[in-house]
Amino acid sequence: MSDDNTVKTSMVTCTAPVNIAVIKYWGKRNEELILPINSSLSVTLHQDQLKTTTTVATSRSFEEDRIWLNGKEEDITHPRLQSCLREIRRLARKRRNKTNPDLDVAGLSHKVHICSINNFPTAAGLASSAAGFACLVYTLARVFGVEGELSAIARQGSGSACRSMYGGFVQWMLGQRDDGKDSLAQQVAPESHWPELRILVLVVSADRKPIGSTSGMQTSVKTSLLLKHRAECVVPKRMEDMIEAVCKKDFSTFAELTMKDSNQFHSTCLDTYPPIFYLNSVSQQIISVVHQYNKHYGETRVAYTFDAGPNAVIFTLEQHVPEFVQVVKHVFPSESNGGKFIKGLQVDDTILSEELKQSIGLEPMPNRISYIISTQAGPGPRIVEDHSQHLLGSDGMPKKTQ
Ligand code: DP6
Repeated sequence: MSDDNTVKTSMVTCTAPVNIAVIKYWGKRNEELILPINSSLSVTLHQDQLKTTTTVATSRSFEEDRIWLNGKEEDITHPRLQSCLREIRRLARKRRNKTNPDLDVAGLSHKVHICSINNFPTAAGLASSAAGFACLVYTLARVFGVEGELSAIARQGSGSACRSMYGGFVQWMLGQRDDGKDSLAQQVAPESHWPELRILVLVVSADRKPIGSTSGMQTSVKTSLLLKHRAECVVPKRMEDMIEAVCKKDFSTFAELTMKDSNQFHSTCLDTYPPIFYLNSVSQQIISVVHQYNKHYGETRVAYTFDAGPNAVIFTLEQHVPEFVQVVKHVFPSESNGGKFIKGLQVDDTILSEELKQSIGLEPMPNRISYIISTQAGPGPRIVEDHSQHLLGSDGMPKKTQ
C-alpha cells in the first residue's frame, strides 16, 4: 500500500474461450465440488470469433465485492461465484504466507469489482458460462498473483469451464478422489496440432429456452439407467479412442465418435424421466443433411454435435467448408443471406452439383438457421496488455461505452 493519500486500484483484464465437447460431460457425482461421473473432451474455439473478456479491479476504497455481466449488475453471492472467489483468495493467502506474511499481495484484504462481457449473443446458446468462469478464475488469479493449476477452481464455477482453461484439444479427467483434487483439465494437443480442422456453429432460430444443463443433468443422474451405462461402460473406451484420433488427426474416426457421443448424450436426455428434448426439428434436419452429405461421398467429411440446445456445431476440414456451407444455405436459405449470414472466418462461394442436391434430398426450409459462425480451434485464456481495453474505469465502475 502506498503511504500517500491516493487510493491505488490494481486492475487486470483477460479473455477466455468457449469450448465445445466432443465427448460430453453430463452428470455429477458431487454437486458442490462439481465432480463429474465421466471424463470428457473438448475443442477450444478461437477467441477471434467467440470470447469472454473480464476485468477485475481491487482497491482499498471498494466497500463490497461486486460483479457486472454484459452490462448488468448481478448477485455476487451466487454460490458458484463465491466458490471461485474463495478458492483464489485461499491460494493467494497461502502463497503470501510462504513468501512474506506482512505483504498485502495486490490487495488481498481488499474487495473486488468484476466486469465481464461476451462478444457473442447469449441467445446464440453457446456455453457462455464455460468461457465466463474460465475468464473470471484466470483474471482473479492474475490480480492476486496466483500461479499454477487453475482448472480445479474454474470447474467449481461450471464443470465445462475447466476445459476452457486450455487451448486446442482438452480432456477433463474424471478423477478418483472425493475432494476433487484430481478432477482436472489437461491439454491433449495444442490448437496448432490440427490446423485444417474447421468449426461451424449453426445458430438455429429457437422459440423457447431449453432446460439448463445443471438441472437437466441432475434429473438424468437420478432417473436414467442409460446414463449410468454410458458413464461406466461407454465413455472410458471412447475417451481413449478419441484421444488417439486427435493425436493421429484421423478425421473420420474423430467425426464418427463425435456424432455417436452427441447422439448418446441426447439419448440419455430422452431416457431421463420426465424426458428432456434439446434437439428440435431443425437440429434433426441438420443431422440428416450431414449423414446424406457423407453418404454421397462415401466417407465421413462432416460431423455434428449438439449441447443442451438446438444449435449444431459442425466439424469438418478446411477443404470441405465452402461446399458444406453451400449445402446449408441451399437447405436453409436465409432472407438476411449474404455477408451477415456467415460470421467469422471467410467462406468462399461455390456451386453445388445437381447430384449432390438430389442426394441431400430436402426441400429448402427458409429462415430456420439465423446465422453461421465460422471458426477454428484456438488458444486458452490470455491477458490483455492494452490498458485502454479495461472494462472498468479508474473509479472501479463499468465504463459507460459498454
Ligand atoms: C451439454 O458445464 O454447463 O454442454 O457444471 O452444472 O455448470 P454445470 O454444467 P455445464 O454442462 C455442460 C454440458 C454440455 C456438455 C459439455 O460441455 O461437456
